[in-house]
Amino acid sequence: MTTVLITGANRGIGLEFTTQYLARGYRVIATCRDLTQAQPLKALRAGIADLMMVELDASRGESIAALPHALKGEAIDIFINNAGVYGPRDSYFGKVQAQPWLDVFQVNTIAPLLLTQALMENLADGKDRKLVYLTSKMGSIADNGGGGHYVYRSSKTALNSVVKSLAVDLAEQGFVAAVLHPGWVQTDMGGPNALIDTRTSVSGMLKVIDGLAAEQTGGFFNYDGSALPW
Ligand SMILES: NC(=O)c1ccc[n+]([C@@H]2O[C@H](COP(=O)([O-])OP(=O)(O)OC[C@H]3O[C@@H](n4cnc5c(N)ncnc54)[C@H](OP(=O)(O)O)[C@@H]3O)[C@@H](O)[C@H]2O)c1
Repeated sequence: MTTVLITGANRGIGLEFTTQYLARGYRVIATCRDLTQAQPLKALRAGIADLMMVELDASRGESIAALPHALKGEAIDIFINNAGVYGPRDSYFGKVQAQPWLDVFQVNTIAPLLLTQALMENLADGKDRKLVYLTSKMGSIADNGGGGHYVYRSSKTALNSVVKSLAVDLAEQGFVAAVLHPGWVQTDMGGPNALIDTRTSVSGMLKVIDGLAAEQTGGFFNYDGSALPW
């Protein structure tokens, strides 16, 4: 059986990843910030034994450090770092402040690496050794024709850089690490005017993840599998 760990799994893209992997018969370890608020995940668990729910707040170092203990040595085949925040919507020139920017970096950029470090033993016991990080085309420097959005853009650009180093560092151990852009998706973050629904986004990304092999490590891919410019 394949085991997938998905962060930020109680709504949006993370909930859809959980739904689609469970439908395939995979075991899913779904993290959310607050189990008492996890009705969407609990509704999925009805009748499904292969869904484990664990609390994780990616903004808190002690929560990240506690995660491997909660997993009790369970092997993880695919890690999907999905949890993310947009931060202040008015992060335009003249409006940017340091603390909210640092808060976004903690969740979008620093936590993904700390989580990968914390889960290394579980991941090394897995057979697939796939590491997937949800980034955004807004983090592409080459694609930035609109400016602004300093906080979110820079957090995802920095995440891309982190994952590139991870891909190089872990290649010898057989890990494949990639950043995926989910498209502009109808979620709380993407808003109602976004171009695609979570089902379209996630079914595309599942195909990309299925096809990840050594040649793709360090890549930046759209949900439809096309390569994106850095
Ligand atoms: N939607 C888009 O158009 C779009 C486009 C490009 C990239 N993305 C990326 O795709 C990923 C998922 O986005 P989404 O649209 O599904 O966003 P969303 O609907 O806003 O959901 C965000 C998820 O991240 C979790 N999260 C936020 N802060 C967290 C923290 N400190 N610790 C742990 N979990 C935390 C949330 O948990 P709670 O429920 O507890 O708040 C929620 O599950 C993000 O990385 C985002 O940057 C989205």
